[in-house]
Amino acid sequence: MGQLETIRLSIDPRRPAPEAIAHAAQVIRDGGLVAFPTETVYGLGAEALNPVAVDRIFRAKGRPADNPLIVHVAGVQALRELTSEVPGVALTLGSRFWPGPLTLVLMRSGNVPDITTGGLETVAVRVPAHPVALALLEASERPIAAPSANRSGQPSPTDAHHVLEDLGGRVEMVLDAGATPIGLESTVLDVTQDPPLLLRPGGVPKEDLEEVVGEVRSLQGQTNAAKRSPGTRYRHYAPRATVLLAPVGEAEALAACVLEEGKTVGIMSRSLVHSRHTRLRVRGMPLEPASYAREMFAALRELDSQGCQVIVAESVEEEGLGLAVMDRLRRAAAANDKTETGQASP
Ligand code: TXA
Ligand code: MG
Repeated sequence: MGQLETIRLSIDPRRPAPEAIAHAAQVIRDGGLVAFPTETVYGLGAEALNPVAVDRIFRAKGRPADNPLIVHVAGVQALRELTSEVPGVALTLGSRFWPGPLTLVLMRSGNVPDITTGGLETVAVRVPAHPVALALLEASERPIAAPSANRSGQPSPTDAHHVLEDLGGRVEMVLDAGATPIGLESTVLDVTQDPPLLLRPGGVPKEDLEEVVGEVRSLQGQTNAAKRSPGTRYRHYAPRATVLLAPVGEAEALAACVLEEGKTVGIMSRSLVHSRHTRLRVRGMPLEPASYAREMFAALRELDSQGCQVIVAESVEEEGLGLAVMDRLRRAAAANDKTETGQASP
């Protein structure tokens, strides 16, 4: 793989040029792959109802075939084509949060191919809130399946150069609209059951969902968790470096311990770091969880590219977007080869 000539088109995030969008839409209709920005992260798009095109997504990413994709649509009316049953709560949530970073899992219709849903009887759908994504959906007049546009297991791409790093030569086109505004993936909510089940915390905080629908159950501790949310089974969001999670205010102290082992250490710290060790790379992180979320994946990639063997990330409070931030950091830390440092993350 890697022999395609990938076209990178710069595009205005607020007023995307119709010619560039028309070009990208044609690639989608021809069964090609287009990476495009959403308000959360960049997605790797192909026509959702074309199994041959969708198969190319799995190959380009190196993604396991049983991990289903999110189908992106231009508006709630597209649910008719994709789903067999739409409970009232889905319409309520759609009218409140779409376009936006909420993905709803619904019973699928016969129009959706098995490969798109990983063989499940459900389909995940969302209306993205990025002008480029919406323009592409409207111009192609097709639902677009799009996982995050990273190689499987890597941190999600929040900038076009992350996409090119991972998928250059494997996709026809990248629409480059600069950094994505939220920086962390959508919230995935299963509304085929009552109360709805939160499969992945993300851009819409759980508290905001609860304001609209009352109780929302969480996946934590559920024995059939992996079956319900196939994505949770796999290594995720992980840079090459080993990730250690430090309690608030303790990142520098933990980094000092790892430096003593002779390793090159990166630190994602929300407070001032005093140490000037030659093997220490410091990436200051914002205090506010939403800002931390926006920079988190880019920071992991940056520290990786600076040759860090270990990355110490300072925790954030688990409320609002902080819940999703901690979910991603824990998964990154869980992917560690524990034998390498001989130490589990604290
Ligand atoms: O913000 C986002 O959601 C981004 C942008 C591009 O829209 N997309 C994204 O896709 O993060 P991906 O493939 O990286 O993550 C989709 C998650 C996976 O954990 C997958 O297992 C889950 O959604 N998912 C998809 N379809 C599902 C289904 N039918 N039932 C349960 N989980 C599903
Ligand atoms: Mg992903």
